[in-house]
This record gives sequence, structure tokens and C-alpha cells, in this order.
Amino acid sequence: MLYRTLVSACVNVPVIGQGTWKFGENPATAGQEIEALRFGIAQGMSLLDTAEEYAKGGSERIVGQAIEGMRDEVFLVTKVSARNCSYEGVLQAAEASLERLKTSYIDLYLQHWPSDTYEVAETMEAMAQLVRTGMIKHVGVSNFSVKLMEQAQAALGDIPLACNQVAYHLNDRHIELEIWPYCREHGILVMGYSPFGYAPHVFGKPGFPAAGTPERELLEAIGAKYGKTAYQVALNWAIRLDGLISIPKAVKPEHLLDNVRSIGWELEAEDLERIELAFPR
Ligand SMILES: NC(=O)c1ccc[n+]([C@@H]2O[C@H](COP(=O)([O-])OP(=O)(O)OC[C@H]3O[C@@H](n4cnc5c(N)ncnc54)[C@H](OP(=O)(O)O)[C@@H]3O)[C@@H](O)[C@H]2O)c1
Repeated sequence: MLYRTLVSACVNVPVIGQGTWKFGENPATAGQEIEALRFGIAQGMSLLDTAEEYAKGGSERIVGQAIEGMRDEVFLVTKVSARNCSYEGVLQAAEASLERLKTSYIDLYLQHWPSDTYEVAETMEAMAQLVRTGMIKHVGVSNFSVKLMEQAQAALGDIPLACNQVAYHLNDRHIELEIWPYCREHGILVMGYSPFGYAPHVFGKPGFPAAGTPERELLEAIGAKYGKTAYQVALNWAIRLDGLISIPKAVKPEHLLDNVRSIGWELEAEDLERIELAFPR
């Protein structure tokens, strides 16, 4: 596994973690999801990303079961929903998450989305209080613009804003313009989500290039050169930037293995150029 640094805390985190959106929705697949997380952790993908929003807490419960007996081996990320971002709401949400996760601390706690109702300052004051009580180790945000990150840091004072979790995949490169450069400058980890474009696809934007399209054929041709799949090429590309990690979600063991094997090799400049032409920023 390769690691990148949570600069604000001098903590190393794996460059590939595990997403858990949709986990906990169906009791029939719970066992498979727990096994997938444990298998992924054993492969080095020990950063787990969940949220109170996912399956109304069901995803956190799955994660809690998966990490039983190995809490110290994982880096746990969860999120407070925008609707719970009042001062009291954040404190209560964190407590409920800890209960579902069956742990006494969260490594990184994120505001899931910007709130239309509550000021960033109010939410961050509650985050700071959670740090002081030891319930969370680090504070982050998700889907935040540069302006909102500035507001968050101003409200946090001495506590560094550790991370911004944002969409990043071949068909959504908007963070390269302002968000990633700002985060690099300020030592904020960028956690790219939906590396295969899965969520944006659900939300109506292009997902992973469909079989038979020129874009997919290009990824497959590049992959053939390295003995990798189109998905592995996409994931390798998605973690090529400094200060950035990715959190693919996978249940199938073959996908988990492919994802681990997406790193430890580098796309050559000519292949990066071909990708640049096919998936322009
Ligand atoms: N902060 C936010 O607002 C936000 C929004 C969206 C997502 N997220 C986080 O980011 C995580 C990842 O994003 P995502 O769930 O949208 O989807 P994703 O990781 O882009 O794609 C997941 C899909 O890709 C498949 N897959 C995984 N590895 C593969 C491989 N090597 N080859 C082929 N197919 C593969 C999975 O299949 P199987 O499951 O069948 O193996 C699943 O269908 C989420 O789970 C969540 O934790 C955060």
C-alpha cells in the first residue's frame, strides 16, 4: 500500500480506502459487505468511509461490525448530515455515530454537504468541541468550495481543517481548477469519491465509460499495456496527484483485489496525454 499524509496531523493514510455508500440497505447482503470490508483491510485499504446518511445509519452499523477487534488498525471516517449541522445537532449526531460504529472515537469527522440552514461557523464550533472531548481526532468537510473551506478554517481557529472529500473521476475533474491547488497550498487532504463515476451516474452525469465506447476502448488499450483493466487505469489516474487519495466502493473480492493492484505502477506520460485528450478537464 502507498500512503499519503494527513498533513495537519502528520498521520499517514492509505492512498486507496474503502467507500461504503449503499452498505447496510439490504440485510441479505450485510454479511458479504462485512466480509468485503475485512478483506479490503487485510489488503491494506484500512481507511473506511461511511456516513450517518448512508442507509439511515445502516452503513455505520456494518462498519462497526467489520472493525470489531481491530479498531486501532483502521482509520475511520464518517459524516454528519447537513440537516444536523446546528451546534447541538452535530454533538448528538457524533454520539449516535459512535454508538453505531461501536467505538469511542472517530478518526476524521466530516460535514457531509454545505448547509443552507446553519452557518459554517456554528457547525465548526461543534466540531472543535468534539475534538476537545476526544470524540473525534480530526475535522474535515465534504463538497466544500474554496470559500467555504476558508470559512471553516477561520471558525476552527487553531484546529486545522484536515480534509475535503469531493467527487473526482475521469468525467468530473472540476476540483483540479481551484479546490485541489488550494488544498495543496494549505495542507488539506483531498479525498476523491466515486472514482468510477458511480454516484454522478446515479445523479444523471456520465458514469464509467460504457463498453464499446471510444473512451472505454482507450482505457482498455492503455490497460493492456500494463496488464491492467480499464477500471484499474481509471483508479491509478485518480490518485496521481499529490495530497489526494481515493475511496472506491467494492463488494466483490475480485474488485477489491483489482483496486489494491491499481497502485504501485505509473502511467507513462504518453498514456496520460491520451487520457487528457479523451477526458479533458
Ligand atoms: N461525500 C459525498 O458526498 C459522497 C458521495 C458519493 C460517494 N461518496 C463515498 O465514496 C465512495 C465511492 O463512491 P461510489 O460508491 O459512488 O462509487 P464508485 O467507487 O465510483 O463505484 C462503485 C461501483 O464500482 C464497482 N467497482 C469497484 N471496483 C471495481 C473494479 N476494480 N472493477 C470494476 N468495477 C468496480 C463496484 O462494484 P461492486 O460493489 O459490485 O464490487 C460498484 O458498483 C462511496 O461508497 C462513499 O463512501 C461520498
